[in-house]
Amino acid sequence: MTFTPPVAQCSSQIRSVNQINNIGLGLMVVDVIVLAAGLGSRMLSEMPKVLHCIGQAPLIAHVISAVAPLTPRCVIAVVGHGAAAVVKTVSALHADATCIEQGDMLGTGHAVAQALPALPPAVDGAMSKVLVLFGDTPLVRSETLQRMIDSPAAVTVLGFEAVDPTGYGRLIEEDGSLVAIVEHRDAGPAERAVTLCNSGVMCVEAATLRSLVPQIGTDNAKGEYYVTDIVALARKAEQSCAVIRCAEEETLGVNDRAGLATAEAAFQTRKRAEILSAGVTLTAPETVHLALDTVIGPDSVVGPFVVFGPGVTVENGAEILPFSHLEGCHVSQGARIGPHARLRPGAEIGAGARIGNFVEVKEAQIAQGAKINHLSYVGDAQIGEDANIGAGAITCNYDGVMKHRTEIGARAFIGSNSALVAPVRIGDDAMVGSGSVITRDVEAGALAIARGAQTNKPGLARRLMERLRAIKAARR
Ligand code: UD1
Ligand code: MG
Repeated sequence: MTFTPPVAQCSSQIRSVNQINNIGLGLMVVDVIVLAAGLGSRMLSEMPKVLHCIGQAPLIAHVISAVAPLTPRCVIAVVGHGAAAVVKTVSALHADATCIEQGDMLGTGHAVAQALPALPPAVDGAMSKVLVLFGDTPLVRSETLQRMIDSPAAVTVLGFEAVDPTGYGRLIEEDGSLVAIVEHRDAGPAERAVTLCNSGVMCVEAATLRSLVPQIGTDNAKGEYYVTDIVALARKAEQSCAVIRCAEEETLGVNDRAGLATAEAAFQTRKRAEILSAGVTLTAPETVHLALDTVIGPDSVVGPFVVFGPGVTVENGAEILPFSHLEGCHVSQGARIGPHARLRPGAEIGAGARIGNFVEVKEAQIAQGAKINHLSYVGDAQIGEDANIGAGAITCNYDGVMKHRTEIGARAFIGSNSALVAPVRIGDDAMVGSGSVITRDVEAGALAIARGAQTNKPGLARRLMERLRAIKAARR
């Protein structure tokens, strides 16, 4: 199986002026290669490592989202293990991405070599750089990548001071400039004493990459093609190499489930800080779980133990009360959600609307000012402005085979514990009596009652109780 439309999917044209960064005197084109072929055997998983999630998004989605602000001309993912699934995810994340399958995994240098033919040609008059990243290193920041692009060196490596450098490639400097990367296994005692390590992220001038990658050999302890050899090769070719430093956290790679949990915790800490700095109150930040794409407007307040799944946007001044769970939904300005509410995909909550405790909303538009305050299920529905859905009222949207819609007009009042059997429409200003099972449309302004009629039998309760007590006494 090959996924190699080499140059076809990568436009050799610049699609927008944004894709040429203006640096100093010249123009800059950035292409991105993400290495994602590895199995990740320590994950003990059927799923390729880069598809495991933190912040409710695959590891590789974090990498692709970190490069997005750099407006790369081209994103190439090198895939291998679980290729079909990785290709599907990458294509969904970045419509123009190219996936190249690496048959035999002969090392990071070999992986980059597979991507080279897919790199679009140079653009006249523009400097062309290639960022090489790992799909399992999700926390690298866009700002850091921008610093690497801005570096004047032909080869720029992202380095960090490791608390424990064991296993990492060491960045060997002479007179303050980078001369080689030596992998742990190949390092002697002096090199192992170096704590400045290779994160794996590199930014290389496209021409340098094209000329040096084919020169990489396998003369090392693992017998693999190491992309890191490009530093020594560049020095031999009298090209400049530099190190850009970042915090160790940014370089955190995921290798096993413990590493995934560590990366999740680091991501949550970072995302919470980002949300707080956007003017949102998190009353107990350490208990709120956010997704990569969570957006919350300023002056919103999020209470303790709220979970944001993917695809949630919350406008300004909304309140999300404790223990609510939101995914794939939109909450408008000033709306109040929870406590203990569940907003599922397709929930659109209008301005100032109220969704209260133990209310589940799915695939439904709740217009501004509407209230669903207690114990309801509203699915495949449209609720009009200022409508009131009473406690325990539900839409019966599923007939066992198909889903049907419920439409409720503006200012309608649905009495408690009613069941609205879809498809059904309740007009503007209509009322439904409590406990009704509504199977036919209710016209605007009408009152519908659909339940057993009440009859009162004077004195019967008292007489019944006396009889029961007498029966019990006779049994003693
Ligand atoms: C690599 C670096 C090391 C650095 C470390 C940081 C090399 C030779 N070494 O080592 O200097 O300190 O990362 O974590 O680059 N991959 C492929 N195809 C392959 C081999 C790897 O796509 O044939 C991908 C993997 O899926 C992974 C990435 O490249 O995403 C890195 O490979 P890995 O085997 O983890 O490299 P390390 O030994 O950790
Ligand atoms: Mg690794």
